[in-house]
Amino acid sequence: MTTPVPAESFARSVARSTELEAEIARAPQRFRVLTGDRPTGPLHLGHLFGTLTNRVRLQQAGVEVLVLVADYQVITDRDDLGDLPATIDGLLLDQLAAGLDPDRTTFFRHSAVPALNQLMLPFLSLVSVAELQRNPTVKTETEATGSRPMSGLMLTYPVHQAADILSVGGNLVPVGRDQLPHLELTRTIARRFTQRYGPVFAEPEALLSSAPLLLGTDGTKMSKSRGNAIALLDDADRTAALLRRATTDAERTISYEADRRPEVASLVLLGALCRGESPETFADGIGNRGAAALKAAVTEAVNEHLRPMRRRRAELAADPGAAREVLARGEARATELADATLDRVRTAMGMA
Ligand code: TRP
Repeated sequence: MTTPVPAESFARSVARSTELEAEIARAPQRFRVLTGDRPTGPLHLGHLFGTLTNRVRLQQAGVEVLVLVADYQVITDRDDLGDLPATIDGLLLDQLAAGLDPDRTTFFRHSAVPALNQLMLPFLSLVSVAELQRNPTVKTETEATGSRPMSGLMLTYPVHQAADILSVGGNLVPVGRDQLPHLELTRTIARRFTQRYGPVFAEPEALLSSAPLLLGTDGTKMSKSRGNAIALLDDADRTAALLRRATTDAERTISYEADRRPEVASLVLLGALCRGESPETFADGIGNRGAAALKAAVTEAVNEHLRPMRRRRAELAADPGAAREVLARGEARATELADATLDRVRTAMGMA
């Protein structure tokens, strides 16, 4: 795998994120978080421990959180949107079940906020094609599509992401390492807009989240399309079935050694995250009872941890209008913010 961000700037972002965490604890009201997902399928345990838990944590800390459903971004690497309305409903239910509170967190779709998308035009004028072509994450994502030629949207979606963040005034963006180049571009766009037209935008900052690396049950990258992921909506039996055929190794003593035993280590980590204990403690609890005992323990830990979320998800799903209603409320708020931003942009540019 390529590493899109040089070690030095990564280290700087890590250090800055530590400062930001202290500031969040001191003055959460200073921050507005913008984050989001492409609605391509149900959320799984990788999302739960990678991003959802962090979103809930920020919300509980008193930070304003906006969560984008990046529907226009689905077609960066595919032609088919799938059953988009159903996918979006599911995405909302997953997040509400995980603890995001629609009274405190704003959910909205790209397609429902016209002013956001309109910002794309002036923003595109602030970046060069060469700059966009250098984006390491876009390069990696394009390679992952195989022989598919790069579309104009694939090349420019980081600019669209700048519009996502800046339209609603997000000043803090939780990201993994791969998204850092996009946030850097957002900052560049904000800065250049200021230089050319005057101050409308502040430069948002990256909050690096140390997402634990959970592999799929076959030991490769966790992804619903590979059939190796436990989705939040899966029931206890399907969870057990998936874990029963998880890849392990022949050593009877269970240990947490991510480099030497990646598959076993990932299962140990999953069990530990669910139980809120260290991977070493979880591994010691299995000792020399082998892979079958490990799988049984992980299954129990996952099902135990997900039980309240699954119950809540089922309750919410019983009301088919619930997700739509949450979106409608969020989109009214996002539209208000983005309309005001676009007004200020057009005024600064001398258009209005
Ligand atoms: N590109 C992100 C992903 O694939 C989703 C996304 C779209 C996003 N716009 C964003 C994330 C703005 C953070 C900020 O998951």
